Amino acid sequence: MTESRTIAVEVSNVHREFHIGEIAIKALRGINMKVYEGEFVVVLGPSGSGKTTLLNQIGGIDSPTDGKVRINNEEITDWGSGKLSEYRRNEVGWIFQFFNLIPSLRAWENVALALEFKGVRKELKKTACETLEAVGLGDKTDRFPSQLSGGEQQRVAIARALVKNPKIIVADEPTGNLDFINGQKIADLMKGLNEKFGGTFIVVSHDLSITEKADRVFHLRDGEIVSVDEDPSVQNFKKVQYN
Ligand SMILES: Nc1ncnc2c1ncn2[C@@H]1O[C@H](COP(=O)(O)OP(=O)(O)OP(=O)(O)O)[C@@H](O)[C@H]1O
Ligand SMILES: [Mg+2]
Repeated sequence: MTESRTIAVEVSNVHREFHIGEIAIKALRGINMKVYEGEFVVVLGPSGSGKTTLLNQIGGIDSPTDGKVRINNEEITDWGSGKLSEYRRNEVGWIFQFFNLIPSLRAWENVALALEFKGVRKELKKTACETLEAVGLGDKTDRFPSQLSGGEQQRVAIARALVKNPKIIVADEPTGNLDFINGQKIADLMKGLNEKFGGTFIVVSHDLSITEKADRVFHLRDGEIVSVDEDPSVQNFKKVQYN
């Protein structure tokens, strides 16, 4: 049977070793994974298993010690620093656990900044406000981060990630700093945006609200993918205990 889906991200035999003095830390030990265009995948694993290190390879923040990362069929591991920073700026949207908003900028300005970095000069406020509207914050575009709840701040961060229309959205524990209800709302929002706008989502999370929405779940342990759930369901995750 021929594979009709397009591969958005292909990680091939990726190793990442860190060195602290004489000590070598093998954070990734031969990772192989393919993520298809428009997929919503979750990476699950205990603390220290290499989840953030893996996202950093895909997001062009860090390079592997060995192996290849291919994004839309281009080997980013071959790129120089200029092309790589262009990729980070234009094609990857990041969502972090602690939101990472700029406190002195209003919600819309935080979102517009991502457009400015991309080189957009026109209709910054309009586009930023429209994206905030899409995440349910149309009435709070002028607020500073300190004037927003945690869940609302994460919505701003999601809008900031999506406003540049990235091909890939990577999220590192996006609900890790939220209570259950807000976590569920953010999980619903992310899945809804994935379905509506079709970007490829790679999400690190322990949160059942997110994992049960995933198309597939990659289980990481000690820098290796030990299994992949092709059809995640709540029952599968109840058996898995991490941390
Ligand atoms: N810059 C670094 N220098 C040395 N070791 C590092 C560095 N970054 C990560 N590590 C190590 O690599 C391993 C994987 O770290 P990573 O941050 O990817 O884990 P993680 O799965 O994201 O954990 P957590 O759930 O706690 O965020 C850990 O043993 C960590 O200590
Ligand atoms: Mg991490």
